[in-house]
Amino acid sequence: MNWNKWNRQTHRWLSIVFTATVAANFAIRAQGTPPDWVTYSPLPPLALLLFSGLYMFVLPYAVRWRGGRAESRADSQPGMRT
Ligand code: HEM
Repeated sequence: MNWNKWNRQTHRWLSIVFTATVAANFAIRAQGTPPDWVTYSPLPPLALLLFSGLYMFVLPYAVRWRGGRAESRADSQPGMRT
């Protein structure tokens, strides 16, 4: 598996982990004030989502800066290749 694909898969799974921590926050908060580690548990996956997301955002531009092939310019989404 190449790096771009790995990064996209990681972003996808992190989005599930992040959503689960947010849902857990709502669920636990219904019972009263949760401990701090529950409150802040969405932040680590969100931070990783930010970096993997920015990487995916920059990817098509980076290909162009580096003089990517015409094929990459036309459809312009090298990260989406399977
Ligand atoms: C924190 C900053 C984030 C940035 C900068 C970011 C950026 C991106 C980018 C650039 C893509 C690729 C879009 C494309 O295909 O062209 C993407 C895909 C995606 N993002 Fe994010 N994202 C962020 C956070 C999140 C969060 C919070 C979630 C959900 C909880 C999320 C869920 C997804 C999913 C499910 C995909 C599709 C991945 C796939 O192709 O399987 N992202 N994101």
